[in-house]
Order: sequence, then structure tokens, then C-alpha cells
Amino acid sequence: MKGIILSGGSGTRLRPLTKITSKQLLPIYNRPMIYYPLNTLIKAGIKEILIIVAPERAGDYLNLLGSGREFGVKFTYEIQDKPEGLAQAFIIGETFIGGDSVTMILGDNIFEDDFTEEIYSFKSGAKVFAKHVNDPERFGVVSFDQEMKAEKIVEKPTQYISNNAVTGLYVYDQRVVSAAKSLTPSVRGELEITDLNNWYLEKGELEVAMVKGEWLDAGTFESLLHAQNFAKEKLDSKMII
Ligand code: TTP
Repeated sequence: MKGIILSGGSGTRLRPLTKITSKQLLPIYNRPMIYYPLNTLIKAGIKEILIIVAPERAGDYLNLLGSGREFGVKFTYEIQDKPEGLAQAFIIGETFIGGDSVTMILGDNIFEDDFTEEIYSFKSGAKVFAKHVNDPERFGVVSFDQEMKAEKIVEKPTQYISNNAVTGLYVYDQRVVSAAKSLTPSVRGELEITDLNNWYLEKGELEVAMVKGEWLDAGTFESLLHAQNFAKEKLDSKMII
């Protein structure tokens, strides 16, 4: 199992904080933000991790994280020239992924749960992790049928379908690379991870597990503030990096 941290993007909602640095390098209590998703991957036993960054910040990431030796893992770096969507990570990461399965986490997603078993029980297809939220219109949202099987996933639904947001942690088999290449950009010009998830869903090969503990993406001022306290109170003692 390989790992990818997607840590590009423009962080426009956090301006001016992100004018001279990357969102995922901002402090969350006593660590840079990216340490939290990195911790999730390393704790799950993933040893080879690709870090995808925006070109203007690449040097900062290299200075901060280095080879990975300090953490007992190996880092590879790639550049995403423009934020053209989450699913583009698998095209950028093609060589890195090779013929393996891959777990991707977003650089601004902070999870309380330990996903070791969920990741290691994965065999093929795709596995995503959903969380009940009050503002589903901000996310990719999954609805379930009566047997709790995923029915459909809709990106930022304008009409209510459920409260289950798809979080920023995804596990795929090696077909993810060709599946990502087969996608066409959405109206907002991005290769959508929701389309990738639907690619697996249509084949009956998408599993959805629920996130039990707290989850947040630290992309707004409110969630950034919340993340600071959450990290101090709940996460600090459980971190291994
Ligand atoms: P977003 O929060 O959707 O986008 P953003 O970080 O650019 O912020 P804003 O909306 O305020 O401008 O992205 C979620 C995560 O995915 C975040 O960690 C950045 C990353 N990302 C990329 O690395 N590349 C991309 O093409 C996109 C869309 C996001």
C-alpha cells in the first residue's frame, strides 16, 4: 500500500494567511497542518508516501519534511502545476503508484480515528470514508440504500440527498490511474474525485465506511480555529510524529 498526501491548492478562503505560504504549512497548535494527515498515513503503517505540492511552495515542503528518514518512511515529491482537481493526483502519481494500491489523504484533513485496519483489510476496488455533517452542500455526498450500500455520490448537491459527506481519505486499487485518465474535467475545470468514486460505484466496487471520531478540514477560519483546540485537547497525545 502506497500513500499520497495532496497538498497543493490555493487556499483562497484563508487569505491573507495563505498569501505567502501554503495552507497545509500553517500551524495547528504545535505542529504544521500537514503533520496530522501525515500522521494518519504513517500510523497506518504506510512507508512510501508521495507529497504533491504547488510549484511555488515546493522548497518549503522539502525543507520541512526532507527525505522522510526522520519519520521512518520515504517521501517522494511531485508538483501539481495548477489546482486541476483531486483526481489529478493519480495521473501525477502514476509512476509512483506503479502496480500497487494507494491511500490518498488531503493535506488539510484532520482525523481522530486510526485507520490501520480499514486500510489493511482493503483488497480491491475503492474504499471511502463518510461522516455525518450538518452542511452537506459543501462536500461530495453519499446516499445509501436500505441495506446501507452506497447508492450514489453527488458533488456539492444543490438538492438534499443525505448528510453523509465523503471525507478526504480514499483507498483505491491500481486501476485508479487509468480511471483518473478517463475522466473529463467538470464545469469548474477540475478532475473530480466524486467522478472517480462513481466510476467504482457503477461497477459495484465502492465500499463506504463511516468515520467514528471527529473529522475536519481546516480550510476556513472557523475550522482552523476549531482545529487548533481539537489538536491540543484530543490529538496531541496520540500523535507519533
Ligand atoms: P480545497 O479546500 O477544495 O481547495 P483549496 O485548498 O485550494 O482552498 P480554497 O477553496 O480556499 O481556495 O482543497 C482541498 C484539499 O485538496 C486541500 O488540501 C488542497 C488540495 N488540492 C490540491 O492539492 N489540488 C487541487 O487541484 C485541489 C482542488 C485541491
